[in-house]
Amino acid sequence: MAKAAIRTAVFPVAGRGTRFLPATKASPKEMLPVVDKPLIQYAVEEALEAGARRLVFVTGASKRAIEDHFDSDLELEELLESQGKKELAELVRGVLPKDATCIYIRQPAPLGLGHAVLCAQPAVGDEPFFVHLADDLIDARTSCLKQMASVYRKQGNSVLGVEEVAPEETDKYGIVDVKGSKDKVAPIRSIVEKPRPARAPSNLAVVGRYLLTPRIFAQLVNVQKGAGGEIQLTDGIAQLMKREKVYAYRFEGKRYDCGSKLGYLQATVEYGLNHPKLGASFRDYLQDLMTSADRRR
Ligand code: UTP
Repeated sequence: MAKAAIRTAVFPVAGRGTRFLPATKASPKEMLPVVDKPLIQYAVEEALEAGARRLVFVTGASKRAIEDHFDSDLELEELLESQGKKELAELVRGVLPKDATCIYIRQPAPLGLGHAVLCAQPAVGDEPFFVHLADDLIDARTSCLKQMASVYRKQGNSVLGVEEVAPEETDKYGIVDVKGSKDKVAPIRSIVEKPRPARAPSNLAVVGRYLLTPRIFAQLVNVQKGAGGEIQLTDGIAQLMKREKVYAYRFEGKRYDCGSKLGYLQATVEYGLNHPKLGASFRDYLQDLMTSADRRR
């Protein structure tokens, strides 16, 4: 049977982003720009490319800037028009297409990603939906969520975006066991949150892309605090797997962990180099910088 398109994307943005303090004391981690767009805009664009039009943001303290970013700003548009800056006015207007709707739900306290997703239930309803973590930025020819939607159309079950990570880094991720399969799409046998390397079933990590069936909500209601004292989405998925299949999908694209300072800097440099207007001069600058650093050695 043909599967209906996924209409809803959930963006949990209620974490405090402590790894970026003090930058994230009063402004959201998700508003950190990579070159000229905030992380959350890359996230929304990815979901729009995958066909989602109902955008659900699970917000928390100090996240007002996200609402403002996706709101229309007539005053700014008029100012830019009056200054003859039509291109910029278009850019501001185009942050969100007219047929998309934003819904903001407050997570009362950052109790964990599983809890954040559960908070979105009233807006999602009884449909499959995407979950997108904006701090995992994925540069791909076809957006990662769009790739996952096509896997869902074939399999009809939940799909998690995965990639291999360094074996010593398993304790930063949800880790899946796919029965030794190297297939692009494989049923998951088990999933565990942040296992120590010695206990990890593999080094195949879930990154911040999920396509979940609505049955996840009934599981999340019963999830207790897990790794890090938080209500983990991974634990809800482990429960879901007792009732239905969940698939791992090795997506095509390059991921940048923009929740870490190094990953954020890497993304900034590579997106800068690929930028249509800035790329060439930025490359020259980096080359000069490296040459003079070499000379000093
Ligand atoms: P992280 O583990 O990156 O946590 O959350 P964080 O608070 O954002 O950042 P650090 O580790 O303190 O630096 C992964 C994603 O889950 C969301 C975050 O906003 C982020 O997108 N999240 C996490 C919530 O929405 N609510 C939570 O209770 C926890």
